[in-house]
Amino acid sequence: MSAYHPYAEMGKTCRTRVIEEKKIVWPSLIRTTSGDKALVIRVLGKNDIGTAAELWRMSYPEVYGSIHEWILFPEEYEGRVALKENWESDSKDRMYAMILGEEADTKKIVFATMLTKFDMNLQVEASFIAIHPDYRQGKGGVRIWSELSAFYEWMKDTGAEYITVFCETWHNITQYIWFKRMGWKIAGIFPGSYTRWCGDRNEYRGCTVHFYRLINDGGAYSTKPEEWQLIPEIRKLWDCLEEINKQSEEEISVD
Ligand SMILES: CC(C)(COP(=O)(O)OP(=O)(O)OC[C@H]1O[C@@H](n2cnc3c(N)ncnc32)[C@H](O)[C@@H]1OP(=O)(O)O)[C@@H](O)C(=O)NCCC(=O)NCCS
Repeated sequence: MSAYHPYAEMGKTCRTRVIEEKKIVWPSLIRTTSGDKALVIRVLGKNDIGTAAELWRMSYPEVYGSIHEWILFPEEYEGRVALKENWESDSKDRMYAMILGEEADTKKIVFATMLTKFDMNLQVEASFIAIHPDYRQGKGGVRIWSELSAFYEWMKDTGAEYITVFCETWHNITQYIWFKRMGWKIAGIFPGSYTRWCGDRNEYRGCTVHFYRLINDGGAYSTKPEEWQLIPEIRKLWDCLEEINKQSEEEISVD
């Protein structure tokens, strides 16, 4: 690249580093929650694929017809999602990981999350989370909040330095959790961001609210607002966002 140069000298308000191989590695996970309705939290295995796809169809059918519709179809999983049986290689090579919550006594899969990694950006996106409709609002002891708090400790162990999530706007439950309980910052509101199914063969473009968090050394390598070139209207938007983001509360720390 020595024949070329960047538009402006940047990285003056943060650390810079030599570009080396960047890799996210999915940490393995198996954990049993305490309490009388114990849940086993674990990564996806080959035998879970059919059940997981059915859980997504029951819980998140809106992705039908979208770039993420593969989560609804078992035949699309192999080659994409890291599987317990091939963990040694899949944890490095597969772009997606799924974590399942299984009722210890009935063995029923009652919630799932799907994560996407972007190695060269040291980024993990918490793409989807869903609880089976029969287990929502804490029924059967499934409380999304207590599961998520442990789960973000796990994200830190992937080696990621930028973690992101987008929350749908057909309810505000996840916005509340990520903002008021997880302490993540609002990145922006994305009207029309993803196509979403609305029944029969029909779709619309939904609006998602995006959140982020810099973990591990991510903050140290990120430029600060002092060196951003922003037009006045966007500077105003940033100031407003910062003011609102001060209200983001954290009941658990991941960095
Ligand atoms: C999103 C989903 C996982 C949430 O699970 P749920 O069981 O319905 O969530 P709850 O209603 O129990 O809310 C979770 C917690 O947040 C609190 N909460 C949620 N929204 C709130 C709000 N606007 N203000 C205050 N508290 C709020 C609840 O009181 C609850 O607190 P608790 O755990 O301390 O009792 C579930 O509804 C689901 O699978 N939906 C379909 C798929 C989906 O929409 N996924 C997310 C897309 S972004």
